[in-house]
Amino acid sequence: MEENGKAGRKRLEPDNSGTSPISHGLPKFRWPSQATFVIIALCNGLHPAQGSGTGGTMSVVNRAGNGKVTVPEILRRKSPSATNSNGPLDRITCLTAYDYPTARLLDEAGVDILLVGDSLGMVVLGYDNTLPVTLEEMLHHTRAVRRGTRRALVVADMPYGSYHAEIGESLHNAMRFVKEAGAEAVKVEGGERRLELIARLVEAEIPVMGHIGLTPQSVHALGGFKVQGKTPDAAERLMRDARAVEAAGAFSIVLEAVPRELAVQITRELHIPTIGIGAGPDCDGQVLVLHDMIGLTFGEPPKFARRYAKVGEEILRAAREYCSDVRGGRFPADAESYHAPAESRDSAVVQKRR
Ligand code: KIV
Repeated sequence: MEENGKAGRKRLEPDNSGTSPISHGLPKFRWPSQATFVIIALCNGLHPAQGSGTGGTMSVVNRAGNGKVTVPEILRRKSPSATNSNGPLDRITCLTAYDYPTARLLDEAGVDILLVGDSLGMVVLGYDNTLPVTLEEMLHHTRAVRRGTRRALVVADMPYGSYHAEIGESLHNAMRFVKEAGAEAVKVEGGERRLELIARLVEAEIPVMGHIGLTPQSVHALGGFKVQGKTPDAAERLMRDARAVEAAGAFSIVLEAVPRELAVQITRELHIPTIGIGAGPDCDGQVLVLHDMIGLTFGEPPKFARRYAKVGEEILRAAREYCSDVRGGRFPADAESYHAPAESRDSAVVQKRR
């Protein structure tokens, strides 16, 4: 059967091009005025979410007193190793979720971030890639995840086309995730070219998770689902992308399908947590597509997607057993049937049915 997945699910093709397919034809970069304050704060060693630095907003908001994972809490969990301290590691855990029951289970399991990824399009809706996923589909699934989540931070992926045109329209779309679907943050793909957008979202009180490396919404520009940043030039471009995402005010950044060595460098340099998927073990956190992780996809899983369960096989087994029981008259049993009250068992209708 054809493999039905994206970065996490497709077998990654080696990037032999020597140059990044997204390096050409980019508009000349201009620092947007909105980002300036963010950059000044970063130069002072502060993240925008840390406020003015007097007293430290993060230590106040920290865990919000009830175990709820918050954006400041995620920022606080930047690995001490990244700043060369010897403190204990507290890696951030993130999984994708697309519906109420899985959100409830993942939340109960203690996953820190539930990402309503647009991978939804591939693992749930059966599209070949993430490009056809609509804003309405993402809102619909984010609402379901919200209803199933109490502790985890809910982050919604902005789908392709919802943040690629006018900034005003992008802001409006992002606000819908917060106002209508209960998302606590949004994720956007792209580096330097998203600097202004990220800064504007942050200014509008919407926390942003960045995403660089293999950005599946760029599948056509990248020429396929390929490992990124393998040459010195490509690695340097990704380093610049990572700095831009941080400078714009994002509270974390996904690194997808990049060499471990590059992920180490980015993780060391940034003050915000890096969340890796196919980026090695040294990131501040890890994310996987739930369906890869529980064996609910079709085809070979990619190298990095460790399989923790075989849910697909279990569904197959259960459905086959059910069919066999129905066909063989073994389901339902009498104990699984309702019964008429004793006094009416002899009535004409009940008699007739016998
Ligand atoms: O859509 C998604 O699931 C993602 C994760 C793989 C990071 O973007």
